[in-house]
Amino acid sequence: MQQETLLTFLLFLHILTARVYSSSSSSEEDEGSSEDKHKESHHGHHWGYTDQKAWASAFQHCNGKSQSPINIDTRTAVHMPRLPSIMLDGYDLTDQPTLTLKNNGHTLVLKLPGSMRIVHGFDEVFIADHLHFHWGTIEEPGSEHTIDTIHFPAEIHVVHYNSKYHNLSEAATMPDGLAVLGAFIGIGLHENDNYEKILSVLTDVSIEESNTQIPGFNVRHLLPNSLDRFYRYNGSLTTPPCFQTVNWTIFNDTIRVSRKQLASLEETLKVDKNHRLNKNFRAPQLLYGRQVQASFSSRPLVKSPRIIPLTESEDSKRDGLTKGDVLAIVFGILFGITVLAFVAYAYQHRKKSSKLSKDPHQNVIYKLATKEEA
Ligand SMILES: *[C@@H]1O[C@H](CO)[C@@H](O)[C@H](O)[C@H]1NC(C)=O
Ligand SMILES: *[C@@H]1O[C@H](CO)[C@@H](O)[C@H](O)[C@H]1NC(C)=O
Ligand SMILES: *[C@@H]1O[C@H](CO)[C@@H](O)[C@H](O)[C@H]1NC(C)=O
Ligand SMILES: *[C@@H]1O[C@H](CO)[C@@H](O)[C@H](O)[C@H]1NC(C)=O
Ligand SMILES: [Zn+2]
Repeated sequence: MQQETLLTFLLFLHILTARVYSSSSSSEEDEGSSEDKHKESHHGHHWGYTDQKAWASAFQHCNGKSQSPINIDTRTAVHMPRLPSIMLDGYDLTDQPTLTLKNNGHTLVLKLPGSMRIVHGFDEVFIADHLHFHWGTIEEPGSEHTIDTIHFPAEIHVVHYNSKYHNLSEAATMPDGLAVLGAFIGIGLHENDNYEKILSVLTDVSIEESNTQIPGFNVRHLLPNSLDRFYRYNGSLTTPPCFQTVNWTIFNDTIRVSRKQLASLEETLKVDKNHRLNKNFRAPQLLYGRQVQASFSSRPLVKSPRIIPLTESEDSKRDGLTKGDVLAIVFGILFGITVLAFVAYAYQHRKKSSKLSKDPHQNVIYKLATKEEA
């Protein structure tokens, strides 16, 4: 019995040491290998999603160090309580004038009027230019940004340019030129009437370069209900020429469309006559030390008694439980177990010495221990 208690203790100690080791050796950045190829950029080149590595040979910015999309690690995102809230103006369009919806061979684009603006949230007013989508297939979710490495089925981008520039193409080359609002699209039980205003006419734009007119509507309703919870980082266009001029806002709330609506986005549009236009998402790019900010706190308000950081190898920078806290908790538990085991042992030993050794309750210690864990 004594031997087994000692063994258990040693086992705990072993697990503990192994975990502390593995968490301190997994140093953060996934980055590392970067060869700066300074190739000439050529314009008007064809590019596609199947060979994304080739983008940089024709578009040098695609090899930069502030590229988009990225994976958003919710635990390393820095809570910034003072990030200004986003206020939109002019999004509530009337049905006239109509809006142009186009299949440009890379995505589905809805052109937006310059009366739509972000009037609060950035240092300047930003004017809407268009919105577009990224998606995958039924089997493969196709959002560009990922949350803790998880893709969502699709993603909407509303592209705005800084009002101090004349137009999108001029602003796109300026460091403070663009602001893109991004949101994830997931599957819900009900049809989304707002998305249906676009999705119901997809067959009209199934051929590459075709377009159609749709009545104006409240474009605000294509975004999540709450615009208060978002991530912010400095990034780029996610398509060539990959200019690193985008102030990104990725909303925490997701939009829901029905399974059928998502399928229509994934299966209706064509490129090059008869190929399906789908999987039009770029892989997450390296951070190179960039910070991702969050307008909200994702940490639970009450500290959970579970020993979370030990089970997930990672990152010493978090300000939740420190390694010291964790060690204290673990040793506390170990100490408790040892005391419990000792007490139980002493108790049984006393009983044993007063009775005969064929006690039917011999294994009472194990029963106790099992119940404690449940
Ligand atoms: C993005 O917007 C925020 C909020 O106005 C601002 O602090 C930040 O400097 C902007 N980033 C760039 C690259 O302009
Ligand atoms: C954008 O503005 C610039 C500068 O005024 C101008 O030269 C260019 O032709 C404009 N481009 C478009 C597409 O309107
Ligand atoms: C983005 O870049 C601007 C300008 O360099 C900087 O002031 C700002 O802090 C950056 N934002 C983030 C989230 O790193
Ligand atoms: C939204 O935030 C919660 C934590 O507050 C997180 O669990 C969830 O993954 C986030 N979703 C997105 C899409 O960022
Ligand atoms: Zn996009």
